[in-house]
Amino acid sequence: MKTVEKANEFIQAEKVTVNSTFMPQLHFVPEIGWINDPNGFVYFRGEYHLFYQYNPYDSVWGSLHWGHAKSKDLVNWEHLPVALAPDKDYDKDGCFSGSAIVKDDTLWLMYTGHIVNEDGSVRQVQNMAYSTDGIHFEKVEQNPVATEALLPDEVIANDFRDPKIFEKDGHYYSVVATKHKDGVGCIVLLGSDNLIDWQFESIFLKGEAHQGHVWECPDYFVVDGKEYLIVSPMRYQKEGNDFVNINSNIFVSGHVDWDKKVFVADSFKEIDHGHDFYAAQTTEGPAGERVMIAWMHTWGRPLVTNDLGHKWFGQMTLPRILKQGENGLVQTLPDSIFPRLTNLTLGQEIQTAGQIQLKLSTSETYQLGNDDDYLLFGYDKESQEVFVDRSHLSINQIGEETWTTVRRAVTVEAADLFVVLDRNCLEIFVNKGQESLTSTYYIDGPCLLQVR
Ligand code: FRU
Repeated sequence: MKTVEKANEFIQAEKVTVNSTFMPQLHFVPEIGWINDPNGFVYFRGEYHLFYQYNPYDSVWGSLHWGHAKSKDLVNWEHLPVALAPDKDYDKDGCFSGSAIVKDDTLWLMYTGHIVNEDGSVRQVQNMAYSTDGIHFEKVEQNPVATEALLPDEVIANDFRDPKIFEKDGHYYSVVATKHKDGVGCIVLLGSDNLIDWQFESIFLKGEAHQGHVWECPDYFVVDGKEYLIVSPMRYQKEGNDFVNINSNIFVSGHVDWDKKVFVADSFKEIDHGHDFYAAQTTEGPAGERVMIAWMHTWGRPLVTNDLGHKWFGQMTLPRILKQGENGLVQTLPDSIFPRLTNLTLGQEIQTAGQIQLKLSTSETYQLGNDDDYLLFGYDKESQEVFVDRSHLSINQIGEETWTTVRRAVTVEAADLFVVLDRNCLEIFVNKGQESLTSTYYIDGPCLLQVR
């Protein structure tokens, strides 16, 4: 059986065997093993806590634990012991994604227990765990606290996962991903007075046929009085430059009708237009700011550092602050990151994580790499596209999509780009965060940033 103790012993003994050639310097990475979704992102006793889907034993998905780290400034992360292991009947095949909330100075986690029955069918239930020291977690004896028995017939209850808790007017709610019998994505709302007894409240939002099936990892939050849902739909149909990754990550703007407890959606917008961005989760910082972090990968693509035998795979984006702009949310970096970024100049070899600000007057293409192996990014003024093009990389990361994904782009009239470059990834912010593009790349050896 898997346990927290075994996981921690394994990590301490084996982490020295990891090959860190492609490990980024500024982005969160595991010490060893596999990570996917950020989980339980929360501010607790003056520090941000980040949990994540974690398989310490291998650099591929499987046997999901909750890894754990904390940070005072969203930049310097301290690894903490593994928080949850799949050690109960109700989570035996994985402690899947979920969230955290602070109640009475205690840190509570709500997560999905993934169970594969003997006949191969899947059951997903919701569980609670808590910690008074922010390090050791106890699963409550009432688990599972929410099962398929709560759900109406119109949803397919074996997809029932990724609870995201929030509090409103002294009552707790949780948005949870399911699949509707019509074959579309569907978010349900659960409610509780005490975090232990949960009821079904409503079908919060149901998708349409072109919007994919399961909407994974929902998150409901308010920024400057405007309400949003984040969803991670599997197989949202692509439209021009948008939703090109097989699984997309989306901001849904709208409002909640609290009499009916439904989310009335106005618009659906892809959060990030790069190759690697999924399962974003937010939390509230000490000044009421909304901070978002996402997994910097998307399903169905090669696992480069695993395939190379480096014993790790997966990383997070930089945390981003969400603010209300003129046309929806803008994404900016926390102030604490800037002192860590050196100023890069064109023609320079990239050795450390750095930043470059590019004012755009006309079409401009930048090349990162060397003559035979390079990434292109830039702006095409004619088509009004900011793009990242991975077609000239020797490790080009073609995924399972039946259409081309080597070049990702966003259609926008761009005035400036702010680019953060790390060892194996870049994040481009367009027009002060109006749009973003986040992509990984793997270039071994000298890496020069030049104008094409
Ligand atoms: C999203 C997801 C979640 C699930 C987790 C399992 O990437 O598929 O829906 O809880 O990953 O690792």
